[in-house]
Amino acid sequence: MPSFRAPRGTRDLLPAERPGWARLERLAAELAARYGYREIETPLFEQSDVFERGVGETTDIVEKELFRLAPRAEDRETWALRPEATAGIVRAFIQHGMQTWPQPVKLTLTGPMFRYDRPQAGRYRQFWQWDVEAIGDAGPAVDAELVELGLRFYRDAGLPDVDVLLNSIGDPACRPAYVAELTAYYRSIADELPELERRRLETNPLRLLDSKEPAMGNINLDAPKITDRLCGPCAEHFAAVRAHLDALGISYRIEPALVRGLDYYTRTAFEFYRRGAEGQQQALGGGGRYDGLVELLGGRPTPGIGFALGLDRVILALEETGRPPVPEPRPIAIVCGADPAATAERLRVATELRAAGLPVRAELGRRKLGRQLEAAVKEGARFAVILGDELAAGEVQLRDLHAASQRPVALADLAALLHRKTPPTGG
Ligand code: HAM
Repeated sequence: MPSFRAPRGTRDLLPAERPGWARLERLAAELAARYGYREIETPLFEQSDVFERGVGETTDIVEKELFRLAPRAEDRETWALRPEATAGIVRAFIQHGMQTWPQPVKLTLTGPMFRYDRPQAGRYRQFWQWDVEAIGDAGPAVDAELVELGLRFYRDAGLPDVDVLLNSIGDPACRPAYVAELTAYYRSIADELPELERRRLETNPLRLLDSKEPAMGNINLDAPKITDRLCGPCAEHFAAVRAHLDALGISYRIEPALVRGLDYYTRTAFEFYRRGAEGQQQALGGGGRYDGLVELLGGRPTPGIGFALGLDRVILALEETGRPPVPEPRPIAIVCGADPAATAERLRVATELRAAGLPVRAELGRRKLGRQLEAAVKEGARFAVILGDELAAGEVQLRDLHAASQRPVALADLAALLHRKTPPTGG
């Protein structure tokens, strides 16, 4: 027999882990609603072109990491699993004429993304993002609003020590001259560059700036900085973003080497890191402005900005900081019975309690009452509802499994009593 396993770089999220994820998903949904972001779902795959154009053909995400679906003979298009949400959301924005909606259009999506990368801690081939996008607002106030929203998510999730790294990477008016200057700088010292970086220099010179190659450390210290080369409007925008963050009392660190791994960015770029954990694969989230993307994908020129927070990494960070796992919900009661064969009775009483909204399990096996009660304790139920001869008179025994006490209760009163004893959910 083959022994099947989840594909490399993917994980099963088991029942004991899911409540921790569900808590983050609820928090994301609640914050998105509070800040006026409306939910959207887009397909898990799109025409490959959406990502090739949107994210950029020479980015790692497209060049090396795109999960392309094998085309069938009759297909006229090629598809790929989404490596991120922004390009698909912008495709939907254009397709559904959202330019005519009141601007900005604020959208949010939480779901799995796929990148064919070398798996390691914090880097998976299927991972989850909470993504928000504000399309149709040129900023700078919305830029600061988004950074604040990201930080609030981490804080409310239980990670108060998250830093924002901030940069402006210019726009088509100032970036080409900067990239030319940067390329000339790297070319002048080409023989000192590691092989991989020499090759990247020809396709995506900006990426050399945030290279993790140790040899690049000193080289990059002397590299020209984009923040000194911004054109007037970009410099003004960047100053205004900072002023808005200052007004909110948010501290941030300007990081001129922060260029992000996607081509669509213009102006504001930012990343979130846990203090003291700023290595590769440790970004907890990132985002930025993409004022050219709507046009690039065939729409009218429309500015936009957004971020995506990596939920897998937030879960990892919470584990590392020693936060106890979120407990699984427990049944309030297990319906047991003295007659092992009376499964229909137990199922009927449990069904009535469930219809009344109570989380209840019925003992549907035919084991002895002692075994049924042992199982109920193991499951963490608070009560056992024990059916016996009194059922004919409309009564059951209610056993408090914590107090190990027992008393008769009228079936008619049972649901209301259990409701009073049910702890509030959440958390
Ligand atoms: P990104 O920086 O590529 O941006 O991804 C955002 C976050 O997703 C990362 O900071 C990280 O936490 C998480 N992440 C990325 N790749 C992986 C992986 N292989 N395994 C686990 N977690 C991962 C974007 O995706 C942009 N779409 C963000 C954005 C939205 N920009 C504007 N709007």
